[in-house]
Amino acid sequence: MSKIVVFGATGYTGRLTAEALIARGATPVLAGRHATAVEKLAADLGGADTAVADVTDPASVRALLSRGDVLVTTVGPFLRHGEPALAAALAAGAHYFDSTGEGPFIRGVFERDAPAREVGIGLLTAFGFDYVPGNLAAGLVLREAPEAVGVEIGYFMASPGTSGGTRASMAGMLFEQGFAHRGGELVTERTGARVRAFDVAGRTGRGLSVPGSEHLALTRAYPQLRDVGVYLGLTGPVARGLQATSLLAGAITAVGPARRATQGLLTRIVKGSTGGPDAAARARTRSWVVAEAVDAAGRTLASVTLKGGDPYEFTAAMLAWGAHTALDGGLRGVGALGPVDGFGLDALTAAAADAGFAR
Ligand SMILES: NC(=O)c1ccc[n+]([C@@H]2O[C@H](COP(=O)([O-])OP(=O)(O)OC[C@H]3O[C@@H](n4cnc5c(N)ncnc54)[C@H](OP(=O)(O)O)[C@@H]3O)[C@@H](O)[C@H]2O)c1
Repeated sequence: MSKIVVFGATGYTGRLTAEALIARGATPVLAGRHATAVEKLAADLGGADTAVADVTDPASVRALLSRGDVLVTTVGPFLRHGEPALAAALAAGAHYFDSTGEGPFIRGVFERDAPAREVGIGLLTAFGFDYVPGNLAAGLVLREAPEAVGVEIGYFMASPGTSGGTRASMAGMLFEQGFAHRGGELVTERTGARVRAFDVAGRTGRGLSVPGSEHLALTRAYPQLRDVGVYLGLTGPVARGLQATSLLAGAITAVGPARRATQGLLTRIVKGSTGGPDAAARARTRSWVVAEAVDAAGRTLASVTLKGGDPYEFTAAMLAWGAHTALDGGLRGVGALGPVDGFGLDALTAAAADAGFAR
């Protein structure tokens, strides 16, 4: 019988995802690199099958999966650790979901569209807060303004906490090229190269451009789109700091040895697996995602705002729903899929609302 495997189950997001799957009545296999840690987790969660795999031994990751299984991986940073799980899903013929927010990794998953179609599996990357709500809000706004040729998406948060895994992933991302979709083409562009203002529940919020899955997924589902922009909204000093850091990192990236030295230093300083916000902190977090449909002159034709809570709980709930639905044969298509074309707008809207994100 086919199964769901949660790889990275002992990490912060992996554990939340395993809990969400069990709460849905699923029976996931909990996989991690240390036998004692996964066995303790399984006992804490009331009993579950376990497996041991390490990305430094790709054969051990491949051995987790059989044809028809569903892999959910939260083993990050994905630019450093992600490839063996993706390769294992393709080799086994297992559907694939990940929690990455790292643009260059997302781009790499979409580049595996053809092999995924050949083996008949779905690849659903960035299936968490990054970047499901933006895809959903864009789908909803394009339903209201189907004549739009562009969509601009902003993510905003109040009182967010971050996990060690998120900080490690952000540190690695600073040295990678971002991208955007402009004039009908995917173009390489520095993260933070652009700033855009959005109306966020009656207040003006500014966001810096980031590489998301929307650029790759929406332009397939809505071929009329010539421009897709994704922006991460931060408060003033943080936004300016990130833009300056991105500029600095861009300059360092141009110089090979300096890049390697700085990356090595960051890898030692910024550790993953150090936990994340507790339930009380998660309960305080609020988030908004705005999508504006625009015409060729850049005029806004329609706007949709979705409001939600904590990104980690949303990520875990969506990964659990997506994996459970895929196991039941509910995926609409094969290849590299976005949230909207993977599940359909109405099913996605309902799942996101259950996970706390709605208009
Ligand atoms: N898209 C989103 O909105 C979103 C939301 C949440 C998280 N994320 C991303 O998801 C990733 C995980 O975040 P997190 O907060 O859960 O981080 P975390 O707590 O550091 O978890 C990372 C997991 O990877 C495992 N791991 C590390 N090296 C490994 C190896 N060599 N072989 C096998 N497993 C290995 C860790 O195992 P150990 O437990 O043994 O250390 C741990 O289970 C990050 O990249 C983060 O940015 C994205």
